[in-house]
Amino acid sequence: MAIDLRSDFIARPTREMITAMTRAAELPGGFGPREDTTVARLERLAADMLGHADALFCPTCTMANQIAIHIRCRPGESFVTEAEAHVVTSESAAAAALSGAMPRLVPARNGALDIAATAAALVGADAQRPRVGVIVVENTHVRSGGRVVGLGHMRMVAEIARAAGVPVHLDGARLFNAASALGVPARDLAAAADSVAFNLNKGLAAPLGAILAGETDFIAEAVRVRQMFGGGWRPAGVPAAAGIVALETMVGRLADDRARARALADGLAELDGIHVDPEAVESNILLVRPGSATPDALIAALARHNVLVLPFGPFLRLVTHHEITDAAVAETLAAFRTVLSGVDL
Ligand SMILES: Cc1ncc(COP(=O)(O)O)c(C=O)c1O
Repeated sequence: MAIDLRSDFIARPTREMITAMTRAAELPGGFGPREDTTVARLERLAADMLGHADALFCPTCTMANQIAIHIRCRPGESFVTEAEAHVVTSESAAAAALSGAMPRLVPARNGALDIAATAAALVGADAQRPRVGVIVVENTHVRSGGRVVGLGHMRMVAEIARAAGVPVHLDGARLFNAASALGVPARDLAAAADSVAFNLNKGLAAPLGAILAGETDFIAEAVRVRQMFGGGWRPAGVPAAAGIVALETMVGRLADDRARARALADGLAELDGIHVDPEAVESNILLVRPGSATPDALIAALARHNVLVLPFGPFLRLVTHHEITDAAVAETLAAFRTVLSGVDL
Protein backbone atom coordinates (compact mmCIF):
# COMPACT_ATOMS: atom_id res chain seq x y z
CA MET A 1 0.00 0.00 0.00
CA ALA A 2 1.21 3.50 -0.82
CA ILE A 3 2.41 5.89 1.87
CA ASP A 4 -0.01 8.72 1.19
CA LEU A 5 1.30 12.08 2.38
CA ARG A 6 -0.76 14.24 0.02
CA SER A 7 -3.20 15.34 2.70
CA ASP A 8 -4.51 14.29 6.10
CA PHE A 9 -8.06 14.06 4.73
CA ILE A 10 -6.97 10.88 2.98
CA ALA A 11 -6.45 9.07 6.30
CA ARG A 12 -8.93 6.27 6.80
CA PRO A 13 -11.21 6.07 9.83
CA THR A 14 -10.05 4.01 12.79
CA ARG A 15 -11.55 0.61 13.68
CA GLU A 16 -13.40 2.27 16.59
CA MET A 17 -14.98 4.78 14.19
CA ILE A 18 -16.10 2.01 11.86
CA THR A 19 -17.71 0.15 14.78
CA ALA A 20 -19.44 3.35 15.93
CA MET A 21 -20.72 4.03 12.41
CA THR A 22 -22.08 0.50 12.10
CA ARG A 23 -23.94 0.89 15.39
CA ALA A 24 -25.30 4.31 14.40
CA ALA A 25 -26.57 2.88 11.11
CA GLU A 26 -28.87 0.63 13.11
CA LEU A 27 -30.46 3.51 15.04
CA PRO A 28 -33.55 5.29 13.74
CA GLY A 29 -32.47 8.50 11.95
CA GLY A 30 -33.80 11.87 13.10
CA PHE A 31 -36.36 13.50 10.80
CA GLY A 32 -35.91 17.26 11.35
CA PRO A 33 -32.60 19.05 10.71
CA ARG A 34 -31.66 18.88 14.42
CA GLU A 35 -33.46 15.73 15.50
CA ASP A 36 -30.89 13.01 14.94
CA THR A 37 -29.64 11.89 18.35
CA THR A 38 -26.14 10.94 17.17
CA VAL A 39 -25.71 14.26 15.36
CA ALA A 40 -26.99 16.08 18.46
CA ARG A 41 -24.39 14.27 20.61
CA LEU A 42 -21.60 15.26 18.23
CA GLU A 43 -22.77 18.88 18.09
CA ARG A 44 -23.00 19.13 21.91
CA LEU A 45 -19.55 17.57 22.35
CA ALA A 46 -18.00 19.90 19.77
CA ALA A 47 -19.65 23.00 21.26
CA ASP A 48 -18.44 22.05 24.75
CA MET A 49 -14.89 21.35 23.57
CA LEU A 50 -14.79 24.78 21.94
CA GLY A 51 -16.58 26.60 24.77
CA HIS A 52 -19.22 27.92 22.37
CA ALA A 53 -22.97 27.83 22.97
CA ASP A 54 -23.90 25.62 20.02
CA ALA A 55 -22.45 23.80 17.02
CA LEU A 56 -23.68 22.51 13.67
CA PHE A 57 -22.49 19.43 11.76
CA CYS A 58 -21.68 20.41 8.17
CA PRO A 59 -20.50 18.30 5.23
CA THR A 60 -17.31 20.33 4.67
CA CYS A 61 -15.26 23.07 6.26
CA THR A 62 -15.70 25.11 3.08
CA MET A 63 -19.44 25.08 3.70
CA ALA A 64 -18.96 25.97 7.38
CA ASN A 65 -16.73 28.93 6.42
CA GLN A 66 -19.14 30.10 3.75
CA ILE A 67 -22.16 29.85 6.06
CA ALA A 68 -20.31 32.12 8.51
CA ILE A 69 -19.44 34.65 5.80
CA HIS A 70 -23.01 34.57 4.49
CA ILE A 71 -24.46 35.28 7.93
CA ARG A 72 -22.03 38.13 8.64
CA CYS A 73 -21.91 39.91 5.26
CA ARG A 74 -24.74 41.36 3.21
CA PRO A 75 -24.14 41.62 -0.57
CA GLY A 76 -21.73 44.47 -1.21
CA GLU A 77 -20.00 44.13 2.14
CA SER A 78 -16.51 42.83 2.75
CA PHE A 79 -14.62 40.44 4.98
CA VAL A 80 -11.08 41.13 6.15
CA THR A 81 -8.52 38.41 5.60
CA GLU A 82 -5.21 37.86 3.75
CA ALA A 83 -4.32 36.82 0.22
CA GLU A 84 -3.26 33.26 1.11
CA ALA A 85 -6.34 32.38 3.17
CA HIS A 86 -8.19 29.24 2.10
CA VAL A 87 -11.43 31.25 1.86
CA VAL A 88 -9.70 33.36 -0.80
CA THR A 89 -7.52 30.86 -2.65
CA SER A 90 -9.45 27.62 -2.57
CA GLU A 91 -13.20 27.99 -2.15
CA SER A 92 -14.09 28.76 -5.78
CA ALA A 93 -14.87 32.42 -5.03
CA ALA A 94 -17.84 31.17 -3.00
CA ALA A 95 -18.02 34.34 -0.89
CA ALA A 96 -18.56 36.37 -4.07
CA ALA A 97 -20.90 33.86 -5.70
CA LEU A 98 -23.02 32.91 -2.70
CA SER A 99 -22.91 36.03 -0.52
CA GLY A 100 -21.87 38.96 -2.77
CA ALA A 101 -19.04 39.56 -0.30
CA MET A 102 -15.65 40.94 -1.26
CA PRO A 103 -12.40 40.04 0.50
CA ARG A 104 -10.53 43.03 1.89
CA LEU A 105 -6.95 41.78 2.00
CA VAL A 106 -4.47 42.92 4.63
CA PRO A 107 -0.77 42.00 4.87
CA ALA A 108 -0.01 38.90 6.91
CA ARG A 109 2.87 36.63 7.89
CA ASN A 110 2.23 32.91 7.98
CA GLY A 111 -1.47 33.52 8.59
CA ALA A 112 -0.99 36.18 11.28
CA LEU A 113 -2.81 39.29 10.09
CA ASP A 114 -0.97 42.60 10.40
CA ILE A 115 -2.67 44.12 13.44
CA ALA A 116 -2.37 47.79 12.49
CA ALA A 117 -3.60 47.13 8.94
CA THR A 118 -6.48 45.01 10.24
CA ALA A 119 -7.54 47.69 12.74
CA ALA A 120 -7.40 50.32 9.99
CA ALA A 121 -9.49 48.16 7.65
CA LEU A 122 -12.32 47.90 10.18
CA VAL A 123 -13.17 51.59 10.31
CA GLY A 124 -14.23 54.19 7.79
CA ALA A 125 -17.14 52.55 6.00
CA ASP A 126 -18.96 55.24 4.06
CA ALA A 127 -20.75 55.76 0.77
CA GLN A 128 -17.67 54.50 -1.10
CA ARG A 129 -16.03 52.00 1.25
CA PRO A 130 -17.94 48.84 2.14
CA ARG A 131 -18.74 47.86 5.69
CA VAL A 132 -16.64 44.98 7.05
CA GLY A 133 -18.92 42.13 8.12
CA VAL A 134 -16.35 39.75 9.59
CA ILE A 135 -12.63 39.07 9.99
CA VAL A 136 -11.50 35.60 8.89
CA VAL A 137 -8.41 34.15 10.59
CA GLU A 138 -6.98 30.77 9.55
CA ASN A 139 -5.19 28.56 12.09
CA THR A 140 -3.26 26.44 11.30
CA HIS A 141 -2.48 28.28 8.08
CA VAL A 142 -2.37 25.83 5.24
CA ARG A 143 -0.60 27.72 2.44
CA SER A 144 2.37 28.63 4.64
CA GLY A 145 2.82 24.93 5.40
CA GLY A 146 0.72 24.55 8.53
CA ARG A 147 2.18 27.50 10.42
CA VAL A 148 0.51 28.19 13.73
CA VAL A 149 -0.92 31.58 14.70
CA GLY A 150 -0.13 32.19 18.38
CA LEU A 151 -2.74 32.67 21.06
CA GLY A 152 -1.47 36.18 21.82
CA HIS A 153 -1.97 37.18 18.20
CA MET A 154 -5.44 35.64 18.08
CA ARG A 155 -6.35 37.65 21.18
CA MET A 156 -5.03 40.87 19.66
CA VAL A 157 -7.24 40.34 16.61
CA ALA A 158 -10.20 39.63 18.89
CA GLU A 159 -9.53 42.83 20.83
CA ILE A 160 -9.44 45.15 17.83
CA ALA A 161 -12.44 43.36 16.34
CA ARG A 162 -14.45 43.80 19.52
CA ALA A 163 -13.50 47.47 19.72
CA ALA A 164 -14.81 47.94 16.17
CA GLY A 165 -17.91 45.79 16.73
CA VAL A 166 -16.85 43.31 14.00
CA PRO A 167 -17.08 39.55 14.65
CA VAL A 168 -14.19 37.15 14.04
CA HIS A 169 -14.54 33.83 12.21
CA LEU A 170 -11.80 31.26 12.80
CA ASP A 171 -11.17 28.93 9.87
CA GLY A 172 -9.71 26.22 12.04
CA ALA A 173 -9.82 23.37 9.54
CA ARG A 174 -6.85 22.05 11.57
CA LEU A 175 -7.71 23.85 14.82
CA PHE A 176 -6.75 20.91 17.02
CA ASN A 177 -3.33 20.67 15.34
CA ALA A 178 -2.83 24.36 16.16
CA ALA A 179 -3.93 23.86 19.77
CA SER A 180 -1.67 20.84 20.13
CA ALA A 181 1.32 22.75 18.74
CA LEU A 182 0.69 25.63 21.15
CA GLY A 183 0.07 23.31 24.08
CA VAL A 184 -3.30 24.90 24.86
CA PRO A 185 -6.85 23.52 24.75
CA ALA A 186 -8.70 24.28 21.51
CA ARG A 187 -11.25 26.27 23.51
CA ASP A 188 -8.58 28.91 24.27
CA LEU A 189 -8.14 29.58 20.54
CA ALA A 190 -11.89 29.31 19.96
CA ALA A 191 -12.51 31.94 22.66
CA ALA A 192 -10.78 34.49 20.42
CA ALA A 193 -13.48 34.06 17.76
CA ASP A 194 -17.24 34.51 17.50
CA SER A 195 -17.55 31.52 15.19
CA VAL A 196 -15.23 28.58 14.55
CA ALA A 197 -15.07 25.99 11.76
CA PHE A 198 -13.01 22.82 11.90
CA ASN A 199 -12.68 19.55 10.01
CA LEU A 200 -13.42 16.19 11.55
CA ASN A 201 -11.86 14.46 8.54
CA LYS A 202 -8.33 15.86 8.48
CA GLY A 203 -5.98 15.08 11.38
CA LEU A 204 -8.92 13.73 13.36
CA ALA A 205 -9.48 11.03 10.70
CA ALA A 206 -13.26 10.83 10.54
CA PRO A 207 -14.35 9.89 7.02
CA LEU A 208 -16.10 13.21 6.42
CA GLY A 209 -17.65 16.23 8.06
CA ALA A 210 -16.91 19.55 9.71
CA ILE A 211 -18.24 21.61 12.59
CA LEU A 212 -19.37 25.23 12.73
CA ALA A 213 -19.65 26.58 16.28
CA GLY A 214 -20.91 29.88 17.66
CA GLU A 215 -23.64 31.64 19.61
CA THR A 216 -27.14 30.15 19.83
CA ASP A 217 -28.74 32.67 17.42
CA PHE A 218 -25.84 32.36 14.98
CA ILE A 219 -26.21 28.58 14.81
CA ALA A 220 -30.00 28.84 14.46
CA GLU A 221 -29.40 31.01 11.40
CA ALA A 222 -26.65 28.66 10.23
CA VAL A 223 -29.20 25.80 10.08
CA ARG A 224 -31.18 27.83 7.53
CA VAL A 225 -28.12 28.84 5.48
CA ARG A 226 -26.76 25.28 5.51
CA GLN A 227 -30.07 24.14 4.01
CA MET A 228 -29.88 26.90 1.37
CA PHE A 229 -26.33 25.83 0.44
CA GLY A 230 -27.49 22.23 0.00
CA GLY A 231 -25.94 20.95 3.20
CA GLY A 232 -29.09 19.92 5.05
CA TRP A 233 -27.96 16.31 5.13
CA ARG A 234 -30.38 13.92 6.81
CA PRO A 235 -30.01 11.61 8.52
CA ALA A 236 -26.32 12.18 9.21
CA GLY A 237 -25.95 9.94 12.24
CA VAL A 238 -23.50 7.58 10.53
CA PRO A 239 -20.77 10.16 9.80
CA ALA A 240 -21.57 11.93 13.08
CA ALA A 241 -20.82 8.72 15.01
CA ALA A 242 -17.31 8.70 13.55
CA GLY A 243 -17.00 12.40 14.40
CA ILE A 244 -17.71 11.68 18.07
CA VAL A 245 -14.97 9.04 18.16
CA ALA A 246 -12.67 11.48 16.36
CA LEU A 247 -13.14 14.11 19.06
CA GLU A 248 -12.90 11.59 21.87
CA THR A 249 -9.86 9.64 20.70
CA MET A 250 -7.83 11.51 18.08
CA VAL A 251 -7.14 14.94 19.59
CA GLY A 252 -4.54 13.74 22.09
CA ARG A 253 -2.39 11.99 19.49
CA LEU A 254 -1.86 15.00 17.18
CA ALA A 255 1.51 15.65 18.85
CA ASP A 256 2.69 12.40 17.21
CA ASP A 257 1.82 13.77 13.76
CA ARG A 258 3.77 16.92 14.54
CA ALA A 259 6.78 14.93 15.76
CA ARG A 260 6.74 12.79 12.62
CA ALA A 261 6.45 15.84 10.35
CA ARG A 262 9.46 17.22 12.14
CA ALA A 263 11.32 13.90 11.82
CA LEU A 264 10.63 13.94 8.08
CA ALA A 265 11.90 17.52 7.84
CA ASP A 266 15.03 16.73 9.85
CA GLY A 267 15.75 13.69 7.66
CA LEU A 268 15.12 15.53 4.39
CA ALA A 269 17.24 18.51 5.49
CA GLU A 270 20.26 16.19 5.42
CA LEU A 271 19.77 15.27 1.76
CA ASP A 272 21.28 17.05 -1.25
CA GLY A 273 18.97 18.21 -4.02
CA ILE A 274 16.17 19.37 -1.79
CA HIS A 275 15.55 22.24 0.64
CA VAL A 276 13.45 22.17 3.77
CA ASP A 277 13.53 24.27 6.93
CA PRO A 278 12.73 22.03 9.91
CA GLU A 279 12.15 25.12 12.08
CA ALA A 280 9.24 26.08 9.82
CA VAL A 281 7.46 22.79 10.55
CA GLU A 282 5.09 23.80 13.31
CA SER A 283 2.28 21.28 12.84
CA ASN A 284 1.66 18.29 10.54
CA ILE A 285 2.56 19.87 7.18
CA LEU A 286 5.93 20.34 5.54
CA LEU A 287 6.83 22.13 2.33
CA VAL A 288 9.90 20.89 0.50
CA ARG A 289 11.56 22.78 -2.35
CA PRO A 290 13.36 20.64 -4.95
CA GLY A 291 16.77 21.84 -6.08
CA SER A 292 17.31 21.08 -9.78
CA ALA A 293 14.53 18.49 -10.31
CA THR A 294 11.06 19.79 -11.09
CA PRO A 295 8.37 19.05 -8.51
CA ASP A 296 6.50 16.94 -11.08
CA ALA A 297 9.54 14.76 -11.89
CA LEU A 298 10.26 14.23 -8.22
CA ILE A 299 6.63 13.41 -7.44
CA ALA A 300 6.48 10.86 -10.26
CA ALA A 301 9.72 9.23 -9.13
CA LEU A 302 8.56 9.06 -5.50
CA ALA A 303 5.27 7.51 -6.63
CA ARG A 304 7.27 4.71 -8.27
CA HIS A 305 8.65 4.08 -4.77
CA ASN A 306 5.14 4.03 -3.30
CA VAL A 307 5.33 7.48 -1.72
CA LEU A 308 2.62 9.98 -2.68
CA VAL A 309 3.21 13.70 -2.16
CA LEU A 310 1.42 16.75 -3.51
CA PRO A 311 2.66 19.46 -5.89
CA PHE A 312 2.22 22.79 -4.10
CA GLY A 313 3.46 25.65 -6.31
CA PRO A 314 7.26 25.41 -6.30
CA PHE A 315 7.11 22.95 -3.39
CA LEU A 316 6.18 19.37 -2.62
CA ARG A 317 3.72 19.15 0.26
CA LEU A 318 3.83 16.33 2.80
CA VAL A 319 1.15 15.98 5.47
CA THR A 320 1.35 13.52 8.35
CA HIS A 321 -1.69 11.78 9.85
CA HIS A 322 -2.45 8.72 11.94
CA GLU A 323 -1.52 6.30 9.14
CA ILE A 324 1.97 7.79 8.86
CA THR A 325 3.85 5.69 11.38
CA ASP A 326 7.54 5.82 12.32
CA ALA A 327 8.11 3.03 9.78
CA ALA A 328 6.38 5.09 7.08
CA VAL A 329 8.61 8.04 7.94
CA ALA A 330 11.69 5.83 7.55
CA GLU A 331 10.43 4.42 4.22
CA THR A 332 9.65 7.90 2.94
CA LEU A 333 13.13 9.13 3.80
CA ALA A 334 14.63 6.07 2.09
CA ALA A 335 12.56 6.75 -1.05
CA PHE A 336 13.69 10.40 -1.16
CA ARG A 337 17.31 9.28 -0.66
CA THR A 338 17.10 6.83 -3.55
CA VAL A 339 15.27 9.19 -5.88
CA LEU A 340 17.55 12.15 -5.15
CA SER A 341 20.66 10.04 -5.70
CA GLY A 342 19.57 10.13 -9.33
CA VAL A 343 18.93 6.41 -9.70
CA ASP A 344 15.29 6.84 -10.59
CA LEU A 345 14.78 10.47 -11.55
C1 LIG B 1 -7.51 26.07 6.12
C2 LIG B 1 -8.58 25.31 5.42
N1 LIG B 1 -9.84 25.74 5.46
C3 LIG B 1 -10.84 25.09 4.87
C4 LIG B 1 -10.62 23.91 4.19
C5 LIG B 1 -11.77 23.24 3.50
O1 LIG B 1 -12.05 22.00 3.99
P1 LIG B 1 -13.08 21.04 3.19
O2 LIG B 1 -12.24 20.26 2.25
O3 LIG B 1 -13.70 20.21 4.27
O4 LIG B 1 -14.07 21.90 2.51
C6 LIG B 1 -9.33 23.40 4.12
C7 LIG B 1 -9.06 22.16 3.37
O5 LIG B 1 -7.96 21.78 3.11
C8 LIG B 1 -8.28 24.11 4.75
O6 LIG B 1 -7.01 23.67 4.70
